[in-house]
Amino acid sequence: MTPPKPITLADLEPLARAAMEPAAWDYYAGGAGDELTIAGNRAAWDRLRLRPRVLVDVSSVDMATSAFGVALPHPLVVAPTASHDLAHPDGELATARGSAAAGALMTLSTISSRPMEEVAAAAPGSPRWFQLYPPSERDAAADLVRRAADAGYGAIAVTVDLPLPGNRERDLRSGFAVRMGVHLPADQAVDPRTGLVVLPTMTWDDLAWLRSVSPIPVVAKGILRADDAQRAIETGCDGIWVSNHGGRQLDGSIATADALPEIVEAVDGRALILVDGGVRRGIDALRALSLGANLVAVGRPVLWGLASGGADGVERALGVLRSELELAMALAGCPTLTEVTRDLVV
Ligand SMILES: Cc1cc2nc3c(=O)[nH]c(=O)nc-3n(C[C@H](O)[C@H](O)[C@H](O)COP(=O)(O)O)c2cc1C
Repeated sequence: MTPPKPITLADLEPLARAAMEPAAWDYYAGGAGDELTIAGNRAAWDRLRLRPRVLVDVSSVDMATSAFGVALPHPLVVAPTASHDLAHPDGELATARGSAAAGALMTLSTISSRPMEEVAAAAPGSPRWFQLYPPSERDAAADLVRRAADAGYGAIAVTVDLPLPGNRERDLRSGFAVRMGVHLPADQAVDPRTGLVVLPTMTWDDLAWLRSVSPIPVVAKGILRADDAQRAIETGCDGIWVSNHGGRQLDGSIATADALPEIVEAVDGRALILVDGGVRRGIDALRALSLGANLVAVGRPVLWGLASGGADGVERALGVLRSELELAMALAGCPTLTEVTRDLVV
């Protein structure tokens, strides 16, 4: 008997788990400390109730949007996650192909098992960003930014919430250490316990410097406060990515759904806004868009797709979310994203 077709993202999770080494699975699934923030991200989306509009013609729903002048068929984004070779031998090449097939903007992590140029070549012409953990040496950091721009990455998402890795206790117990990937210099400082990259001296000055050397837009990833969003914009950032790193950094951090409104208010249309963390349903994406996010990103669900079915699995995971968002927009009376307004959630 053929197993039932996965129809939700939650259906994909056990398939991925069964396909992975237990310690690698725990690295993907886990968070910091008691994993309060992982649970909090989910709970905060669930608290938001939708206020659907009726008697609107929704015979066609158009989710089209754009990011820094690049047209996108929908607002769903692949968040950067490390070491896709843990999920599938083709690693980020499969993720790039699956994302492209699903029309999703893919953000490639610095901690990638494949060089950014190869990932770009795997899905030519599809929209992609590069996530940067800046090497300590500025020349090396500038080199990665230049390589990304040359390879057609449309923006640099600088991760600002990882001065040190959070205490991911599942990994401490299993002894799992993720490899550093192909982009960082071999002498990059790492945490002795976990082997993870550390950036303890990175400050706003470094972000300003990165902005000054980047020929492409810069997005600050990992913002949870209005004052930091304001400062990132003053530093020249073109985008604000509201994130608590999927609950993997400071446990007890505010849920992204709770942080988003004050940040949207502070940004006041001056920058592109993304949000991630616990988005598992089309209605979560609709909630995020209603609160004022321009784009909505997912991390772990893409890995579930990758582990369970390679590029096809990534396409399936993103396709599930996309179809759910489309239906949610229709049922909420929103034929386009313009109608997805703040009054849709309470
Ligand atoms: C296994 C894993 C690895 C990650 N690696 C990175 C990374 O290399 N760089 C980064 O900026 N964020 C990284 N993140 C955080 C994601 O970009 C994103 O913020 C988070 O996964 C969103 O939450 P979700 O998984 O609940 O969708 C990682 C997350 C996971 C689960």
